[in-house]
Amino acid sequence: KQRIGVLTSGGDAPGLNAVIRAVVKSASSLGWEVLGIHDGFEGLLGTKSYRVLTNADVQGLLPRGGTILRTTNKGHFGPRRSDELSEEDPYVRAVKAIEEMGLRALITIGGEGTQRISLELHKLGAPVIGVPKTIDNDLAGTDRTFGFDTALQVATDAIDRLHTTAASHNRVMVLEVMGRHTGWIALHAGLAGGADVILIPEIPFSIERVAEKVHARDVQGSAFSIIVVAEGARPRGGQEMYIAEGRLGGIGHWVGEQLEHLTGKDVRVVVLGHLQRGGSPSPYDRLLSTRYGAAAVQAAARGIYGEMVALRGQDIVTVPLAEACGYLNRVRPHSDLVLCARSLGIVFGDEL
Ligand code: F6P
Repeated sequence: KQRIGVLTSGGDAPGLNAVIRAVVKSASSLGWEVLGIHDGFEGLLGTKSYRVLTNADVQGLLPRGGTILRTTNKGHFGPRRSDELSEEDPYVRAVKAIEEMGLRALITIGGEGTQRISLELHKLGAPVIGVPKTIDNDLAGTDRTFGFDTALQVATDAIDRLHTTAASHNRVMVLEVMGRHTGWIALHAGLAGGADVILIPEIPFSIERVAEKVHARDVQGSAFSIIVVAEGARPRGGQEMYIAEGRLGGIGHWVGEQLEHLTGKDVRVVVLGHLQRGGSPSPYDRLLSTRYGAAAVQAAARGIYGEMVALRGQDIVTVPLAEACGYLNRVRPHSDLVLCARSLGIVFGDEL
């Protein structure tokens, strides 16, 4: 009997379980057995931790958030420093485990870090197929990662709710959303929710420019403002000043404090955090996850390894893992989305 493995790695995202379900159902249509590996790549080390997944095991999984296989951030799989094939090397041990388990393919569901580990394993001969996941949508090689749409929905809903309370009190509301390196959630949710200011890592901002926008709205008779800030956004030239304040008092709080000082207005700050990662995937993410899971099994059936399934336009294709590694898909400051936001009067804090 043919056998494949599946694992989830890196931060969780809505849709992981939907991919697992699609993998199991598609593989079982081919008469294959699926091993679900626990705790990301860690499950391949030591005594190995996995279980057989049948159609019965994935019943009811489609709408469930999180991952039944659990996940880890990197664990033993740091950057590979040498090409030596030492017995101690976690990569070498993982490849041996894949062989011992008799896997014709290993489907690895994760973001950039995961795909980088997958590529290293593939270079060592492992039959790996990647599936692109991250709520940040910053993985290169694909037009969309699953998890993004759900996070966007949560962030947009938060903006809608903040609007009514902000307007009732003539307040400035600062919403910090996820996006350590890229501003996709902030940009899309800011547009979808009608924010006045959007601050993203790709466009360093001036806090004075943001304060000006708040003031201009006051003058025009809109005495409230909604500011969406991605957690990775930084004031121009203010990198050190902010970083000294540490992770817990994040950029949202810094923006809030500065605006209170500069505008004299009442400001409230909301950090949306992991609410964006939990819970049931949106219909779009369920569909994308399902298509990715089925496509990964199809790739295994055709013997396509060292590739990642990806969305290009309307179609699911496969791309070399290397295309997804080493760099991120960032918001282009001159993209039509940013220009669209600017033409609506949304401020990014960069023009003085
Ligand atoms: O990469 C996804 C993401 O949600 C980022 O936007 C965020 O910075 C990070 O993961 C937080 O991860 P954790 O809390 O799991 O370390």
